[in-house]
Amino acid sequence: MEYINNELCLGPLKKPLLPLVANYMRPIYVYDLDSVAQRYQAMSQALKGTRLFFAVKSNPNPGVLQKLKSLGAGADVVSLGEIKRALECGFSPQDIVYSGVGKTKFELAEALKLGIYQINVESLPELERIGVLARELNKKAQVALRLNPDVDINTHPYIATGLKDNKFGMERSMVPALVKCLKSYSDSIDLVGVSLHLGSQMLEFSGYDEALKRLKTVYLELQAQFPTLKKFDFGGGLGIFYDRVDLQLEESLLQKYAQITLENLSDLNCELQAEPGRWLVAHCGALITQVQYIKETSAKTFVIVDAGMNHLIRPSLYEATHRIEPLKRKDAAFVVDVVGPICESSDFFAKEISLTKVQEGDFVAIMDSGAYGYSMASVYNLQELPLEICI
Ligand code: LLP
Repeated sequence: MEYINNELCLGPLKKPLLPLVANYMRPIYVYDLDSVAQRYQAMSQALKGTRLFFAVKSNPNPGVLQKLKSLGAGADVVSLGEIKRALECGFSPQDIVYSGVGKTKFELAEALKLGIYQINVESLPELERIGVLARELNKKAQVALRLNPDVDINTHPYIATGLKDNKFGMERSMVPALVKCLKSYSDSIDLVGVSLHLGSQMLEFSGYDEALKRLKTVYLELQAQFPTLKKFDFGGGLGIFYDRVDLQLEESLLQKYAQITLENLSDLNCELQAEPGRWLVAHCGALITQVQYIKETSAKTFVIVDAGMNHLIRPSLYEATHRIEPLKRKDAAFVVDVVGPICESSDFFAKEISLTKVQEGDFVAIMDSGAYGYSMASVYNLQELPLEICI
C-alpha cells in the first residue's frame, strides 16, 4: 500500500482505498490478493522444493484461500471447521495437514474418513486415540509426530510454543513410548513424518537452528525403524516487521531462514514441508475504520474509531504495534491514542502516536492486519463482525 496524491492506494493497480470502503458503515478488512501471490512465490522460491501448507488460522477468508490454492499451496488446519473451510475453497484432503493439541474423537474420525494427508500428533493419548479410531474405521492414518525441542525463539510468551512448559508437541524422552505405541498400531497407523512449530513472529533464528539439529537426530533414529517416514515439517513462525516498512530487511531474513532450514535438512533427502501463516498474509491486509469522535481530556487526545478490540485483538492481547495510516493524508498532525468503542481500557490500537490530524468521519487503516485479524474477531459488546473484501 502506498500514497499517491496523498491517498492511500492498494496493490499493483494502485487503487485508492477510500472509494472502495466509504459506503459500508462498518469496519472492514481489505486484502490485496496480488500481494498474497507475491509473498507466496517469494517464500516458495527461497525454500526451494518445500511444500507450503498455509496456516488457515491466520486468515481463513475464502478469497485468500482460493488464491493460495490456485498457486499450489496446501492448508495447515487445527479444527474440523478449518478442514471444512479448506475443502469448500477447493483444497482436497490430500492438501491438508491437521495440527492441534485438542483434536476430539469426532474431529479425528472425520479426518480419517476424509483421508487427510497428514495428522500432526501432539501427545501419546492422541496417538492411541488415532490408532483405535483408524482400526474401527478400517483406515490407515498418516501421522507425523510433533516434537517439542525446548528452545526459545524470543517471541511474545503467548505465541511461543517450543518450550518444555508449553502444551505443544512431545518431548524427546517420549520417543520410546511413541515408538512402542506406533508398533502396536502398525495395522492402523503409518508414521510418515516429524514436525515442529516453535511459535510465531520469529525474527531471530538461533533457537530455530538448534531445534532443527535436535529434531534431525530424532528423525534419523526413527527412520531406521519406520521405512514409511519421509517427511520433515518445520512449521511456520517466520515474523514480519509491524513497526516499520522494511521489505528489504524482511527479504534478507527470509533468505537467512531458508538457508538455515536447507543447510540443516537437505541431506536428509526427505520431503520438506512448512506451515507459514503470518509471513504470507499479514502485510496484505488492513483494517479500515472510521473516526467517530475526537475526544480531548486534560491528559490526552483520543481518536475514537468504530473498530474495537473485538475486530482486531492483537494490540490488546500481545501489545502488538500496528501502524495506523489515514486514507487521506493531510499536512498537520497531532499526538493521540487511537481507541475503539468497547467498554474496556484494553480497547486500544495505538498509544501516543503522531497521526495526520483526522476529523470525525475520516477513515484510517490499521496496517498489516491480514494475519490473525478477522480470524480472531468476536462479537464482544454485541458489536457486529467486520466485513472483508478481497481486491
Ligand atoms: N503451524 C502451527 C502448528 C501453528 O500453531 C501456527 C500458528 C502456524 C503454523 C503458523 O504460524 P505463523 O507462520 O503464522 O507464525 N494470534 C497470534 C499468532 C498465533 C499463532 C498460532 N499458531 C498473533 O496474532 O500474533
